[in-house]
Amino acid sequence: MKNVLLVAGARPNFMKVAPVLRELLKHPDTFRPQLIHTGQHYDADMSDVFFQELAIPKPDLFMGVGSGSHAEQTGRIMIAFEKVCLETKPDLVIVVGDVNSTMACAITAKKLCFPVAHIEAGLRSRDWTMPEEVNRVVTDAISDLLFTPSRDGDQNLLREGIPADRIHFVGNVMIDSLLEQLPKTETRNTLRQCGVEVGKFATLTLHRPANVDDPQVFSGIVEVMAELSRELDIIWPVHPRARKMLEDPRLAGLLKDAPGLKLTGPLGYVDMLTLNRNAKLVLTDSGGLQEEATVLGVPCITLRENTERPVTVESGANRVVGNRPMGIRAGVRSVLNGNECSIRIPEFWDGKAAGRIVDVLMRR
Ligand code: UD1
Repeated sequence: MKNVLLVAGARPNFMKVAPVLRELLKHPDTFRPQLIHTGQHYDADMSDVFFQELAIPKPDLFMGVGSGSHAEQTGRIMIAFEKVCLETKPDLVIVVGDVNSTMACAITAKKLCFPVAHIEAGLRSRDWTMPEEVNRVVTDAISDLLFTPSRDGDQNLLREGIPADRIHFVGNVMIDSLLEQLPKTETRNTLRQCGVEVGKFATLTLHRPANVDDPQVFSGIVEVMAELSRELDIIWPVHPRARKMLEDPRLAGLLKDAPGLKLTGPLGYVDMLTLNRNAKLVLTDSGGLQEEATVLGVPCITLRENTERPVTVESGANRVVGNRPMGIRAGVRSVLNGNECSIRIPEFWDGKAAGRIVDVLMRR
């Protein structure tokens, strides 16, 4: 019987651990999985709602580390997770994605010589100003097993000197959750609640420090969105990081004059999926949404200078337009003018990635 610690900490982790935990639980004679929630995200609408909707069992342990600077948050996670590792002596620690919890738990386990597996390995933006890029590179460098969502991930890892026998191309676990939850969107009345019609609105999400923390960049984006909302409703579920910035009186005034720009608090998984599925376009700086839009066949405009998910661009769904008004306007115009190409779903984004991961673990 193998003791497996599966770590989740922040919102984008929950849809990745859900299918993996379910697959592990199908083999009770082989694996004894325990779910560890670091508490990096803790608000009900950033965490609990995902557990309910994705039917994730209550975590075996909630570490409650909360927010802080990078060093504070990473340090608190490491201190708390070291105790967990010493008590449980895991045969394997599984981390997912690229958030601070991912890297902190990988380092902690590795220094205690417990094997580490990283799901969503190999993605690279080559942008070292992104905290996630540091988290990805460090986690991959020390992981014993690396599960990649796309072939470019394998190439990146090989180029960095990771031995080929540690790398397993398994596809995208996030899409396992998406395909499983998609039928629920048929009966949701999210569009009515938001006051929008199928194909006549866009969704917007912003949370990257590069977009949200710099007042000049942030207000430039909000201005373009206010302008665009005169021809297309925009539903904007506001991330806590962006919420504070909207208190600026000038931005508050701008929003008041833009009734088509509809702000909500963070949405649950199925509501967000329902909106994205029915949107004319998705405007985002999130990595996960670039992937989800690709599978839903909805054009995505990425408000960043780069993406660690080039496969979404190659698939025809995603355009990376930067975070300056001119680029955003041009990208949006191109979609609204109907310059869309056909969208291909990347290899192994088929709802079976978690099964492939557990097959590899069983073989080992
Ligand atoms: C984190 C991840 C990012 C991921 C994002 C998804 C890192 C470095 N960043 O960014 O990769 O894409 O989550 O949302 O790990 N806050 C709340 N309630 C919460 C959580 C946070 O109000 O439940 C507020 C706090 O003021 C906090 C701020 O949001 O300081 C930022 O949270 P944090 O976890 O540090 O980073 P995110 O921007 O959410």
